[in-house]
Amino acid sequence: MKKTIAVLPGDGIGPEVVRQAVKVLKSVAYKFGHEFIFREGLIGAGAIQKTGRPLPEETLKLSRQADAILLGAIGDPKYDKDPQAKIRPEQGLLKLRKSLNLFANLRPVKIYPQLLNISPLKNERIKKVDIMVVRELTGGIYFGQHRRYDGGYSASDLSVYTKNEITRVAKIAFNHASRRKKILHSIDKANVLATSCLWRETVSDLSEDYPEVEVVHMFVDTASMQLVKNPRQFDVILTENMFGDILTDEASVIAGSIGLLPSASIGDKHALYEPIHGAFNKAAGKNIANPIGTILSAAMMLKMSFQLDMEARAIERAIEKVIDCGFCTKEIAGENTEAEKILGTKEIGNLLAKLI
Ligand code: IPM
Ligand code: MG
Repeated sequence: MKKTIAVLPGDGIGPEVVRQAVKVLKSVAYKFGHEFIFREGLIGAGAIQKTGRPLPEETLKLSRQADAILLGAIGDPKYDKDPQAKIRPEQGLLKLRKSLNLFANLRPVKIYPQLLNISPLKNERIKKVDIMVVRELTGGIYFGQHRRYDGGYSASDLSVYTKNEITRVAKIAFNHASRRKKILHSIDKANVLATSCLWRETVSDLSEDYPEVEVVHMFVDTASMQLVKNPRQFDVILTENMFGDILTDEASVIAGSIGLLPSASIGDKHALYEPIHGAFNKAAGKNIANPIGTILSAAMMLKMSFQLDMEARAIERAIEKVIDCGFCTKEIAGENTEAEKILGTKEIGNLLAKLI
């Protein structure tokens, strides 16, 4: 199989973790006889520095033409310190999601049995947790009008959802639920927000097409509590853009490290794969970042965009093996981890490539 992959390393630890994922993809290509062509593009703070824009036209074009996109991370604390900055690295990612219509963001949260101890949550609570979060990605408060007025003394962000936008992402969640445990938690704030009332109504209407799936509507505040209290009750979670952003960071605590979690952003034509973590600029260039979230994202790409299930499984198995053998990056090492088992970003990538 011959496929072109747009590679957008981005900022902070992005380039390092993406390099390892590309390495692993090359080992897959070699082992299984495929040809992957990698074409690199600029995005985020690096792109602003070089071109003045967080998403240069060229990157957008490259992403449109590719069979799939692999992204690292975006962000630079320089911009966080200046909340007034008009041009920000994150705009690059948001524009890419919007331009390619990547409306559904799939974030699987799983816990490796060997890593139960690194989670701050109690073992028995998180054992066998396996959740698929489906986050709406191109609507809501992220994309409504943001403005300052009153001479800067007032501000507003508008949250808009249409029935169509909710239906198309909800269908994806229902489809996952019918292939999994047939229970869908739809998270909203329908006791306060109009968008959430529409959300609840739309999901309820759609549920008639999926009689095999039980739907549980839950308020987002309750859900954030239940996620750490009793995460096993969840199988597929469906939620809007901002709630999904927050709940998936929270859910990553279950897995022990946000560095382990992959994601796929899909639309009707294009697909982008990225770890759920950010740019973690403080760790950039230190060879300490965990590349597994990005490598698992590459596995999701093989499975979802190229239907290469066996190849994706090979990556997942290699990761399981590395974890089984006790190898890990620094942030998930416990008190009892032997020093020689703590590996760098690059060494984890090398090990996985070799195993494959
Ligand atoms: C994420 C990130 C992004 C988001 C940022 C970088 C804009 O936090 O993918 O979860 O908020 O969607
Ligand atoms: Mg986030």
